[in-house]
Amino acid sequence: MTPAVPRRVVLITGASSGFGSTFARRFAKQGADLVLVARRRDRLETLARDLAAAFGTTTTVMATDLSQPGAAQALVDDLGERGITVDALVNSAGFGTAGPFAEEDLGRITDEIQVNVMALTQLSLLLLPQLTASPAGLLLNVSSTAAYQPLPNIAVYAATKAFVTALTEAIWQESRGTSLQVLALAPGPTQTEFFAAAGSERFKVGQMLTVDQVVDAAFVALGRRSSPPSLVVGSRNRATAMFARLAPARLALLVSARLTA
Ligand SMILES: NC(=O)c1ccc[n+]([C@@H]2O[C@H](COP(=O)([O-])OP(=O)(O)OC[C@H]3O[C@@H](n4cnc5c(N)ncnc54)[C@H](OP(=O)(O)O)[C@@H]3O)[C@@H](O)[C@H]2O)c1
Repeated sequence: MTPAVPRRVVLITGASSGFGSTFARRFAKQGADLVLVARRRDRLETLARDLAAAFGTTTTVMATDLSQPGAAQALVDDLGERGITVDALVNSAGFGTAGPFAEEDLGRITDEIQVNVMALTQLSLLLLPQLTASPAGLLLNVSSTAAYQPLPNIAVYAATKAFVTALTEAIWQESRGTSLQVLALAPGPTQTEFFAAAGSERFKVGQMLTVDQVVDAAFVALGRRSSPPSLVVGSRNRATAMFARLAPARLALLVSARLTA
């Protein structure tokens, strides 16, 4: 008898809503097993039950607050104790805070940097040996079009995403010649719970992409023979990101201040 091929295990942070939960569904449909991470355990457990019924997915729910220093290490230690080895990591957990920098709450921006930057970086580093050893290794970090220019009125968030894209693109280069796929996914405004969590009503539904459009684009990019280091989704978003990279800083700031006013 041929031994059963082990199923791919995908760990997804921020799996309780938005991009994270949609990635969970897509990977489950492809036949992967999952480790789902976020704070809202009830949502993760409901998703796990749905995916078990629909696709026979085995899901490990790990309710974790990634704003807590040490959370990433504790998560990886817990995986080790459970004997779970991860093939793919999708870092989707993250949030922003709308408003002028001078009015930011110190505790909230500390949590924001901890989730968007520290936990993402630590999980990427701690799990990299497992991802690299896997024939189906993937590191997908959810960045943003906010990464491409400073954004007045959501300044800390944009700075965290600039970090995510810079880090992920560098890991992409370092991983060339290995089987590991690395992608910084940079959606523009998308219909998730993000803007409600950020305290912003900046965009109307019709002005935003859908989660499925973004996730579809990510899978198309990952399906290419050589996937790109980063992916900006949507032609208008790509044009804005390119403009921000090429324009003089004063002009880029003027335009971005209008966008986020
Ligand atoms: N939607 C957009 O327009 C947009 C555009 C570009 C980039 N992004 C990025 O996309 C990623 C996912 O956001 P989304 O748009 O899908 O928004 P969302 O629907 O609000 O999802 C955010 C996810 O992050 C998790 N999260 C937040 N704080 C956490 C914490 N302390 N510990 C663990 N998990 C935490 C949330 O879970 P719990 O609340 O259950 O913990 C939730 O699952 C983020 O990195 C965001 O920056 C979003």
